[in-house]
Amino acid sequence: MNPLLERLRAIVGAQHVITEGDLSAWEQDWRKRMRGKALAVVRPGSTQEVAAVVRACVEAGTSLVPQGGNTGMVVGATPDESGTQVVLSLTRMNAIRGVDAGNLTMTVEAGCVLQAVQDAAEKAGFLFPLSLAAEGSCTIGGNLATNAGGTQVVRYGNARELCLGLEVVNAQGDVWNGLAGLRKDNTGYDLRDLFIGSEGTLGVITAATLKLYPLPAATLTAWAAVPSVEEAVRLLGMAHRELGAGLTGFEMMGSFALSLVAKHFPQMRVPFHEQSPFCVLLENSDHESELHARVQFERLLETAMEEGCVTDAVVAENLTQAHQLWHIRESIPLAQAEEGLNIKHDISVPVSRIPAFCRETDDLLRQAIPGVRLVNFGHLGDGNLHYNVQAPEGGDPPAFLRDWEEKVNAIVHDSVQRSGGSISAEHGIGSLKVDKLPKYKDPAALAMMRAIKKALDPKNLMNPGRVVRT
Ligand code: FAD
Ligand code: MLT
Ligand code: ZN
Repeated sequence: MNPLLERLRAIVGAQHVITEGDLSAWEQDWRKRMRGKALAVVRPGSTQEVAAVVRACVEAGTSLVPQGGNTGMVVGATPDESGTQVVLSLTRMNAIRGVDAGNLTMTVEAGCVLQAVQDAAEKAGFLFPLSLAAEGSCTIGGNLATNAGGTQVVRYGNARELCLGLEVVNAQGDVWNGLAGLRKDNTGYDLRDLFIGSEGTLGVITAATLKLYPLPAATLTAWAAVPSVEEAVRLLGMAHRELGAGLTGFEMMGSFALSLVAKHFPQMRVPFHEQSPFCVLLENSDHESELHARVQFERLLETAMEEGCVTDAVVAENLTQAHQLWHIRESIPLAQAEEGLNIKHDISVPVSRIPAFCRETDDLLRQAIPGVRLVNFGHLGDGNLHYNVQAPEGGDPPAFLRDWEEKVNAIVHDSVQRSGGSISAEHGIGSLKVDKLPKYKDPAALAMMRAIKKALDPKNLMNPGRVVRT
């Protein structure tokens, strides 16, 4: 009998310590890049239980892997293959603790599914703007731990900007309650910002106080065909000028990315992808009226067509059509997965340098790999592209990854570095990029990151081997 497992059962209840049966939901990552083996999956129901679990694991010298919805892209939420790690699943901690309408905040537990957070905000008459294709299964704890971005960043910022405070169980099993919901607090180092984006390597996020916004009077969506990346960037500038704070979404999609959606989900009608190298999805959220939004949108698109940066465009007539357009965009990762294992990037460069980055990197990849298929799409409004690479037509995806992943990553990441960008704009480092970080991160910054990790988790038991190696 394992004494740690006995202790964990006493803390959370035997039914919430899972050691047998099919554990693939917790042991296998979403992209099916790696399959680990857990000592146990432990599902605490309260912050106090999380704290007790952490203390028990620390005393036993057992490492923990915090996990939310397990939708992460960089193999950060699943255990290694040793069979010695505890997966700490937060999904039972899914209470909405409260909405403070006067403070425009809501406090939620870490295991709340993002969509449930959005719905609760809407029920209270507010908008919680974080939005991404995995919102039906990712958790707010995972969103904060990865500082997730998504499709509304151009207006509202990423998860960090949407969070006013955290409750955290640290690597000693102590609870830090930082949920006051203050918009200003200059009493020293910002621990909230330290834990956001730390990918479970410094402690466990158990709850968060989030910012709420007024619901817009109308939200309109448009789909535009654009002849090139250059013109997409020019359209972005025009959209900023014409729509101001109303511009809440600006996503660019290459025709090959869209053709994968058309191929794998033929029931979806994908506009313009056969005649245009790129399409852009724009969203205009208006606090006046739908008519106002429509007039603004039409003026923008007409000017863009006159100036040649848009060749065709459609504005959704109603919410159903708008959802259909967004659904096409959000289905790209799923269509890519259907097409087979692929090499993913979530790079960012200054928006102004995106066209040159794409030209240079497209050329380098095409020279290196004849027939390479580039799945270029993403959050152009934030300078963040999913510059993904699929095996050549008819190729064997696992063999392609084996032979090419390192070389392709080097080509793309070196090009990002030359453009003054980041090798991870939203998915994080996890296991997949932990060995790449030292090449691309400023050495002084990396040294400080290691020092923080050592200071806060001296026994290296919080998600070891992810983000930084100590
Ligand atoms: P998990 O995958 O469970 O965990 C992710 C990381 O956070 C791990 O390192 C884990 O240890 C840590 N973690 C989880 N919960 C906690 C906690 N409570 N405390 C401490 N650490 C914790 N990401 C984007 O940024 N933008 C996108 O547009 C986007 N689109 C996506 C689309 C699809 C179809 C999919 C599958 C994923 C997408 N992602 C996107 C990636 C992913 O980062 C997000 O889905 C999400 O933020 C992860 O949340 P999760 O609850 O699933 O976290
Ligand atoms: C998205 O924006 O859809 C995801 O972050 C991208 C991906 O799957 O690469
Ligand atoms: Zn993304």
